[in-house]
Order: sequence, then C-alpha cells, then structure tokens
Amino acid sequence: MRVPSSSPLLTLSLSLSLSLLLTFACTAQQQEAPAPPRLLGTFAKLNREAPKPYEYEIRQFTQTLDHLSFSNLPSFQQRYLINARHWDPQSGPIFFYCGNEGDIEWFAANTGFVWDIAPRFRAMLLFAEHRYYGESMPYGSREKAYKDAASLAHLTAEQALADFAVLITELKKNFSADASPVVLFGGSYGGMLAAWMRLKYPHVAIGALASSAPILQFENIVPRETFYDIVSNDFRRESVECFNTIKRSWKAIETDGNKYDGLVYLTKKFHLCKTLKSTQDLSDWLSSAYSYLAMVDYPYPSEFLMPLPGYPIKEVCRKIDNAPDGSSDLDRVFAGVSIYYNYTGTVDCFDLQADPHGMSGWDWQACTEMVMPMSSGDNSMFWRFNFDYISTQERCLKDFGVNPRPYWITTEFGGHDLRFALGKFGSNIIFSNGLLDPWSGGSVLKNVSETIVALVTKEGAHHIDLRASTKEDPSWLLAQRASEIKLITEWIDQYHRVRKETNSSCASI
Ligand SMILES: *[C@@H]1O[C@H](CO)[C@@H](O)[C@H](O)[C@H]1NC(C)=O
Ligand SMILES: *[C@@H]1O[C@H](CO)[C@@H](O)[C@H](O)[C@H]1NC(C)=O
Ligand SMILES: *[C@@H]1O[C@H](CO)[C@@H](O)[C@H](O)[C@H]1NC(C)=O
Ligand SMILES: *[C@@H]1O[C@H](CO)[C@@H](O)[C@H](O)[C@H]1NC(C)=O
Repeated sequence: MRVPSSSPLLTLSLSLSLSLLLTFACTAQQQEAPAPPRLLGTFAKLNREAPKPYEYEIRQFTQTLDHLSFSNLPSFQQRYLINARHWDPQSGPIFFYCGNEGDIEWFAANTGFVWDIAPRFRAMLLFAEHRYYGESMPYGSREKAYKDAASLAHLTAEQALADFAVLITELKKNFSADASPVVLFGGSYGGMLAAWMRLKYPHVAIGALASSAPILQFENIVPRETFYDIVSNDFRRESVECFNTIKRSWKAIETDGNKYDGLVYLTKKFHLCKTLKSTQDLSDWLSSAYSYLAMVDYPYPSEFLMPLPGYPIKEVCRKIDNAPDGSSDLDRVFAGVSIYYNYTGTVDCFDLQADPHGMSGWDWQACTEMVMPMSSGDNSMFWRFNFDYISTQERCLKDFGVNPRPYWITTEFGGHDLRFALGKFGSNIIFSNGLLDPWSGGSVLKNVSETIVALVTKEGAHHIDLRASTKEDPSWLLAQRASEIKLITEWIDQYHRVRKETNSSCASI
C-alpha cells in the first residue's frame, strides 16, 4: 500500500493505526527499547582547560526569540565565533557553520576541515551557536530557558534557521560584504540544518555541505531497523563471533539479573559505582557504547567522544573474542566495552548516570519535531524491539508536558520522494556520508541531481570529512575532501560569473 506523500493527514491516520499495531506486538517483549540514540550534543562540552586549537573572536548578537510571530517576547544573546584573518573583503566567501545541539566552541574545535580550507578560499569563518545551547540562552539563563514547555517552545529547527538567516544578513551589511557568497557547513544535526537552510533560504546561501545529516530518519522514509542494523554490521564485519557474543549477552543479563541478588552480581561484574536498579539500565549503557563506537569507528586514534584507538570496533571485538578460555559472554562483553568507557585505564568505577540520559535540549527536540522511529529486528545484534509511538508520546508528556508532532519535519522540509521533489528544484547541496556511521542509513546516499550530490565512502564514520586533516588520513578520505573542495569552488565561481553577467546585462538595459 502506498500513501501519496503529498497527503500528510492521510499518512498520519495510517501511521497512527500502525503504531497501535506495533504497541500490541510489543507487549510480549521483556526488554524495552533503549534510550533513543543521540547525535553528538551531549559530548559537545568544551574542556576549558585545553588550549583552543583555532583562533577566533567570540561575539554576541541580539536575536529575536520568535521569528515566526510578532508576539512581544524578550530578545536573547546569540553567540557566534568569527575569524576574518584570511578573508578577502572584495568578494571572499563566508563559510558559515550551522551550530548543532551543543557548545559552539566544541563544534569549532571539531570542524578542522573549514579551518584547513579557509586560507585557500580567502574565506571568512563564522560559527553560529544554536539557540538554547552553549551560552545562547533565551530568558537569560539555562535554568529559565529550560523551565517548562512554554519557555522551551522556541527551541525548534525553524527558529534556529531564521536566527542564522538574520545573523548572516546583518553581518553582511556590517561588513559591506554584499559580493561575498555564503557557503553553509554542518555535521550531524548541524548538517541537517545546513541542507534545510539551503532549501529554505537560497537567497542567503549559495550551497551547503551537509555531512552525516540524517534528514530521512523520519516516519517510514527509511526502514526503521537501519540504524541498529548498521551498528550490528560494523561489528559483524570485524568478527561474526563478536557479533554473536553481543547478541547472546542481552539474554544473559536478564537471566543473571533476575536471580537472587542478581543486580548486585551484575553491579560487581561490570564494576559499576552504584547498585543497578534494573537490567534495562545495564543494557542501555552497553547498547549506547556500541552505537557510539559505530559513529566514531575512525581509521585513526581520536578523542572525539572518548579517547579511542583507531578502528575501535576492531579492538572491542579483539577483546571480546580473545578473552581467556572459560570466560562467560558477560565477561567478554565487559572486556569489550571497557575499550570504550575506560581506554585510558583511569576509571575507578562506571557511573551509569554519567551516561547521557539526563534531560537535554535534544530530548526536547526529539519530543517535539525530531521523532526518529527506530527498531531492532532480525539482522541486529541488539535485543528485539519495535518503535512504539504511544510510549514515546507518554514519555514526552511526562518529561515535558508536550505532544510530539512526528509528521511536522517532513511537512516543513520534505523527505518523502526526495529525488522527485528535489530533482528539478534546489541545487548545490553535498550530502557526505561514511557507511560505517549508523546515521548514514537515514541520510541521502544517492545523487539527486547534477548539483545535489551524495559523496559516500565505504570506510567512513560520523562526519569524518569535517575533521581536521591528519597525517594518517586514508586515500578515500583525501579523495572525498578533494571532491568537496572542487564542488564548493564551482559554486563560488558560478556565483561570481552569474553575478557579473547579471550586472552587465542590467547595466546595458
Ligand atoms: C552590526 O553592527 C551593529 C552596530 O555596530 C551591531 O550592534 C550589531 O551587533 C552588528 N551585527 C552583527 C551581526 O554583528
Ligand atoms: C580501568 O582500567 C584499569 C586498567 O586496566 C583497571 O585497573 C580498572 O579497574 C578499570 N576500571 C574499571 C571501572 O573497570
Ligand atoms: C554523485 O555524483 C558525483 C559527481 O558529481 C560523483 O562523484 C559521486 O560518486 C556520485 N555519487 C554517487 C553516490 O553515485
Ligand atoms: C556592478 O556594476 C556596478 C556599476 O557598473 C559596479 O560598480 C559593481 O562593482 C558591479 N558589481 C559586480 C559584482 O560586478
């Protein structure tokens, strides 16, 4: 049965009945779905001790809280970072990073690519912080901004894009930078914003590099299993034995945990700081390690989320497979995740609460617009679960007093039949992805048109192309970045060419 994508209402009623069916299917299961996987925001906390890798000035801009109405709300201070050292004020481009769900200084520090290429483009660099994150807090403080559903109401992608548009427009005026084309950059949620911004504000920016941007991870556009299937494949490709051990471990956790003093036993086995309250907490903690490992399965050592060796999944599986004879599945799994949680060997005990389960801005966004349905099925190494809209809704009502609008993003930005919708409309967007990254399954992996292109690497992980170049960069990464630079150069050249032509033809009239 195919639902015409032009009819969100029809889709709504159909999918609601579908969710009801799924709920019934769920009741037979023991374990709940894990906490929804996160994008990167929870890690985006700047270590203020560490030296800043790049030079920039930090500025504040007085921003309108509600761009989409004329209600009389207080303005707020939006933070942005600027570096104009290499900029050619005649017509040099402006490279604008669309801030994600976290401290903008962290994203600036982790987006070396734009810093690396700014000099050759003679570009100005701007990193704009996303409202409600970092220090860009409405109502003057995080506490007030996050008080309740009313104060959080303006934490939406639409408002964030409008912030960016207003900021760019005014900055160009202030710098008399009329002739400077703006190119958007973003990774993960920031990449989604960059792509959407190019579609919504084509007069503000000439193109967007959207890296690891899962703009299709909504409704039923991609199979719901895709995220956990990709994580699972990343483990399976290293070792089938490793995959099978992890797959068996969930049952073992249930069995051991349900024995007399079972939770105490598991607490000891997994070196936890506090006694486990439920086996689910342990399973969630393990499953989020596997998901993050898949996101950062980079070919060289990194400290992006956690200090890790190169190809960390290979290391995890080596630990799992090579544990001493007689080790149980749980011993093996513990040795494996210790690579993720304790690579430096300095952790005394594991604090599950330290795992990002606290309320964050992303939780609000996931409870309002960013409903990304995910399930775990036959090909997965995780326990089986189905996305259950009703329980998502209940959780959101409980946590925030808000009802999700699962069909709003595709109504506002599209997503269904992308190639049809954008084939002849829209241009100059690069969707870059690495297939090891579980978010790649919800991104654009096929060329949409001549100018909306997908650059895909088999061995890449979460927006590795946006990271600073290193001596260890493999050739496929160098090639991917070279293609990006070539396309961006073409956009800029074309902009100047067309501008000149338009100018001279107008002058001659
Ligand atoms: C532009 O200049 C005005 C006046 O100096 C200033 O108040 C405003 O913050 C500037 N805008 C931006 C985006 O920096
Ligand atoms: C972390 O690793 C060190 C070194 O191997 C080990 O002594 C310590 O017990 C580990 N911490 C936990 C919580 O397992
Ligand atoms: C999309 O087109 C570009 C050329 O513009 C090419 O380099 C790239 O490999 C294509 N992507 C896919 C996924 O086929
Ligand atoms: C457009 O034409 C005007 C007047 O001839 C000139 O001053 C201006 O620099 C031109 N702009 C561009 C982008 O060529």
